[in-house]
Amino acid sequence: MEYSEKVMDHFMNPRNVGEIEDASGIGTVGNEQCGDIMRVFLKIEGDVIIDASFKTFGCGAAVATSSMVTEMVKGKTISEVMTITNEAVMKALDGLPAVKAHCSVLAEEAVQAALWDYSQESGITIEGLMPPKSDHGH
Ligand code: FES
Repeated sequence: MEYSEKVMDHFMNPRNVGEIEDASGIGTVGNEQCGDIMRVFLKIEGDVIIDASFKTFGCGAAVATSSMVTEMVKGKTISEVMTITNEAVMKALDGLPAVKAHCSVLAEEAVQAALWDYSQESGITIEGLMPPKSDHGH
C-alpha cells in the first residue's frame, strides 16, 4: 500500500491532537467494520470555527484525515465547513489508497457530528445538516 508524503506527514506529525476544554461542539463517530473511533472538537464563535482538535483511536489514515480535516475547518464559517467532503480531505492529502477511503468518511462525519452537537446545544439550525449516523455520545 502506497501512502502520499502528505498522509505520512500528518500521520507522523498530527496537527491539533487533543481536547478543547470548552468546545462548542463534540462529535464522535465510529466505523463498525474496523472498530476505529474518531472524536472531533470544535470551538465556534459567531459563525466561525476558531479552533478544532481531535482524538482518534484508529488506523494511520484515520489519524491523517483527522489531522487534515481539523486544519481545513479552522477559520472557516459553518456553511463553508458543511461543504467539506471526505473527497476534499483525501484530495488535500494527495489521495488515499482505495481501501482506506472509509477512514476519510469518518473525518467528514466527525466534523458534522460536532456541528450537530453544537446546533443541539445552542438551538440553531444548520442548513443541510443531518443527525449523525453513529453518534457515540460525548
Ligand atoms: Fe478504520 Fe481506517 S481502518 S478508519
